Amino acid sequence: MGSVTRKPLIAGNWKMNLDHLQAVAFVQKLHWTLKDAAHETDSVEVAVFPPFTDIRTVQTLIDADKIPFALGAQDVSTKDSGAYTGEVSGAFLKKLDVDYVIIGHSERREYHGETDEVVAAKVQAALRHGLVPVVCVGETLEQREESGPTAVSVAQLRAALEGVPSDADVVVAYEPVWAIGTGQVASPEQAQEVCAALRTVISESLGDSAGERTRILYGGSVKSGNIASFMREPDVDGALVGGASLLADEFAAIIRYQKHVGV
Ligand code: 13P
Repeated sequence: MGSVTRKPLIAGNWKMNLDHLQAVAFVQKLHWTLKDAAHETDSVEVAVFPPFTDIRTVQTLIDADKIPFALGAQDVSTKDSGAYTGEVSGAFLKKLDVDYVIIGHSERREYHGETDEVVAAKVQAALRHGLVPVVCVGETLEQREESGPTAVSVAQLRAALEGVPSDADVVVAYEPVWAIGTGQVASPEQAQEVCAALRTVISESLGDSAGERTRILYGGSVKSGNIASFMREPDVDGALVGGASLLADEFAAIIRYQKHVGV
């Protein structure tokens, strides 16, 4: 589709791992590993999504050492301020120079009962505060068997993009639930099929230009050994990496996918 080039995005979702001290050591090690490998920072955007308690520390390090990583949060409140114990406002994240926020991760949907309505409200909250939402969608194995590979993700994305302006900057992540943390990885063809359907949803909801420029990531058991096969697919523009993003050497190898296998 089209001729717009979408800069690849390799994002590490740390989930509830690494405290703020471990985060500093990790980010430094990742940075050095990429430097030692003479990684060209312009070729791929790298983003890390630490737990909330690490964000301030990681932001200070990235800023002080001019480390070319974007910073993300793993969730955001639908509300901007007030009596909402335990919630974190998008305004606070923006003050910490956070760029991205993951919204609607399957773990939030499953363990915190986040509905499509909540996800849509969080997308609006992120956009209100100038944060780029990384909207996660994906089906369980049962849903895949019942309604096919694309139906659930398509419906989830349609709902999430409700009311989003056509010029908004968003990222979409296709994360089949059955491939998260299981070692069971979708095939590149399976990922492509759903990502292509998601691009159509973006075009229908936000217009063709948004469809062409919006990056769609694949997530679910991404490793250095399989990343290149996903990146070869025309509608896969990057990866949202869980477990493998906690290992500096492995995550660096994923970021350097263009080097170890020609893409
Ligand atoms: P894994 O890479 O551990 O399968 O996790 C994927 C994920 O949920 C990223 O958000």
